[in-house]
Amino acid sequence: MKNVVLCVTGGVAAYKALELVSRLKKHNINVDVAMTKSAQEFVTPLSFQSLSQNPVITDMFDEPKAYEIAHISLAKKADVFAVVPATANIIGKMAHGISDDFISTSIMATKAEVLIAPAMNTQMYASPMVQENIAKLKSIGYTFVSPGAGRLACGDVGEGKLAVVDDIFDEIMKLLYPKKDFAGRKVIVTAGGTEAPVDPVRVLTNRSSGKMGIALAKALKDRGADVTLIHGHLTASVPDGIKTVSALTNEQMDHEILKCYDDTDMVIMAAAVSDFKVREISKHKIKKSEDSFTLELVKDKDILKGLGEKKKNQILIGFAAESQDLEAHAREKLERKNLDFIAANDISEGMVFGKEKNSIILYAKDGKMTAFGELSKEESAHRLLDEIMKEVTRRDQTTGL
Ligand code: CTP
Repeated sequence: MKNVVLCVTGGVAAYKALELVSRLKKHNINVDVAMTKSAQEFVTPLSFQSLSQNPVITDMFDEPKAYEIAHISLAKKADVFAVVPATANIIGKMAHGISDDFISTSIMATKAEVLIAPAMNTQMYASPMVQENIAKLKSIGYTFVSPGAGRLACGDVGEGKLAVVDDIFDEIMKLLYPKKDFAGRKVIVTAGGTEAPVDPVRVLTNRSSGKMGIALAKALKDRGADVTLIHGHLTASVPDGIKTVSALTNEQMDHEILKCYDDTDMVIMAAAVSDFKVREISKHKIKKSEDSFTLELVKDKDILKGLGEKKKNQILIGFAAESQDLEAHAREKLERKNLDFIAANDISEGMVFGKEKNSIILYAKDGKMTAFGELSKEESAHRLLDEIMKEVTRRDQTTGL
């Protein structure tokens, strides 16, 4: 049986969490409810106890006998922690690692998915403090169900109203039963910047953080794929459980991909691969004896072009960061490298490198263009996978005929 820990914090919308409990119970999901003191001013614990058929946790030190240490045992047992409604206060505490009551402590102690449905006054919701805290929690993988707009209890009109219970319920179900549409697919994702060695201590490299490739590898793993992340230099960290292979130079990356290419269903080249290498790598550390010196660079291999030439049934996806003529350059690369998709980023107004968000325009071999709009790299990764899955399904249907 799946377990949801529903954390109710103080807000007029607290009563709507009652409906959520009954929806979850109807789907045979166990619900343990925890309430802050202020939530209890709006709805009584007894209402939640009656619907959940479990004792309600109302205080850190007032533990029901059934739990040894309630915040730890529930943190371990939970598949999803849902904070509904979530006040600015609990969002702020979570974003800053403050744990001074049952809810903030248990969320910090859990490995479960965390879902947050904020509800508060419009001005509070729009404040930079709340928005920064939300952005931080999103970046560590928490799921948000954004509030809707409308007339609030305080009389203000705008964003801040708790999302409709149907939407919150759907998001919880997605976290409890994630789609595994990539199960059985072998995927290579490349990430980060490759290095071109100059001498034993120096390299030429670029500013790629690897975030987009890491987000793709994580999304693929969550959706059931057998994914290998072949990476160059990274500044972002890779979540646990992802198979990684380090390949720092263009040559190493090419070699690692080719080792498993024939047996791979798709390759997503998010790495920023160096186009040039140093003609003669110095065996010894170059000394600063001269006032200036010249490094001769020669073209290095275009890995993706090579994969395009060897392609059998693999789906190939490239990335293109362009500062001008985005569409023309992207389509030219799609064609030249024999790709199925190219994900283009416009970098004319500030770099994409190292940023949390991007705005991808996806061009497909069949001419279709899809603009994702500005999204976090995690959201962009899922949107890209949705589009790739449509192509996979189309191919499966064609071969199945
Ligand atoms: N790529 C590659 N090998 C290279 C250079 C790029 O495999 N030596 C891949 C990248 O990982 C990316 C795609 O090709 O998926 C497009 O990379 P990009 O740098 O935009 O294109 P280039 O072909 O290098 O063209 P240019 O630098 O002239 O824009």
